[in-house]
Amino acid sequence: MRKRELDYSLKVRLPITVALVAISFALTYFVSRAERDGVGYTPSQPIAYSHKLHAGDLNIDCQYCHTGADKSRHAMVPPTETCMSCHKTIKIDSPEIQKLKEYYDSDTPIPWQRVHKIPDYAYFDHSVHINKGLDCTDCHAEVKNMELVEQAHAFTMTNCLDCHRTAHDKFPGLDLKAKGTEDCITCHR
Ligand code: HEC
Ligand code: HEC
Ligand code: HEC
Ligand code: HEC
Ligand code: HEC
Repeated sequence: MRKRELDYSLKVRLPITVALVAISFALTYFVSRAERDGVGYTPSQPIAYSHKLHAGDLNIDCQYCHTGADKSRHAMVPPTETCMSCHKTIKIDSPEIQKLKEYYDSDTPIPWQRVHKIPDYAYFDHSVHINKGLDCTDCHAEVKNMELVEQAHAFTMTNCLDCHRTAHDKFPGLDLKAKGTEDCITCHR
């Protein structure tokens, strides 16, 4: 290489190459992180339903809609009837509410996209946690400030165990059964 070409390589190509490597590294890092623990996952939904409006501004209780949270394994997404108890009369000329009504009238469940999911081989139960006094925000952060629900924390085994090991300190007054919540069989049955 002649000196001028070498200069060109160092001054122009090298910085560009370094920048490209850095960008692609950052991209793969964040993409693979999202695949690994789901944090930041925010699927779009078939109807522009907003938690910020309903649970935040209107202050509707989480369990008015998520009726399973203190009774069963699943918190459950509400059936369309729950929405229609208000939207038979509220905002009926909004296109989004007309979409809602079409699902309701045709008896078609709304295809809400699941946000949080742990693998089938692991066992989780909402009611145990809610009845021990945990709040939705302990695991799902401030859903009442979210337009679209976003996964805020990882639901990896490490994260479950981190809380199970330290729950004594975080939730004083909790009668944690000695170490039961760290046994494999508790979550893998
Ligand atoms: C008026 C009914 C209603 C109220 C009130 C409500 N939600 Fe929801 N929630 C829904 C619907 C419908 C979905 C499914 C669509 C979506 O994800 O936005 C949902 C989804 C969710 C999800 C994601 C479920 C998944 O797929 O992983 C979480 C977490 C959640 N809600 C938590 C809360 C919390 C916490 C509150 C109270 C601060 C609350 N919700 C109040 C109706 C409601
Ligand atoms: C101890 C952590 C924890 C707490 C507290 C918690 N959740 Fe969840 N939530 C999870 C996990 C883990 C999943 C995924 C469960 C699965 O894949 O079976 C989930 C999934 C959900 C889902 C979708 C699947 C389902 O179970 O119906 C909804 C809706 C939901 N949570 C709402 C709530 C609401 C509302 C509260 C408060 C009343 C709450 N959660 C409290 C950890 C928690
Ligand atoms: C307790 C009553 C109540 C329930 C239950 C309720 N909503 Fe609403 N919703 C409202 C109110 C009030 C507004 C705001 C109307 C306004 O802007 O004047 C609203 C607004 C909306 C909007 C925005 C409409 C627009 O175009 O501005 C959508 C979409 C919506 N709701 C969907 C739903 C869905 C889906 C459910 C069930 C998961 C639901 N709502 C349950 C009271 C309710
Ligand atoms: C924010 C704290 C917290 C997080 C996060 C958490 N847990 Fe728990 N978990 C608790 C507490 C508190 C108990 C109650 C312990 C007791 O009954 O003594 C509990 C109990 C349980 C139990 C015992 C149920 C029974 O039959 O006694 C299971 C199963 C469980 N958790 C699964 C999970 C899984 C799976 C995850 C992760 C996806 C998780 N937990 C995340 C706090 C947490
Ligand atoms: C508090 C609940 C909890 C306890 C206790 C628990 N696990 Fe898990 N485990 C999970 C969850 C949730 C997952 C799935 C999420 C993940 O991959 O991190 C998982 C995943 C796994 C995996 C798959 C990991 C992978 O990378 O694919 C193995 C293997 C496993 N656990 C073994 C164990 C063993 C062995 C024990 C006892 C020493 C144990 N677990 C105790 C909740 C638990």
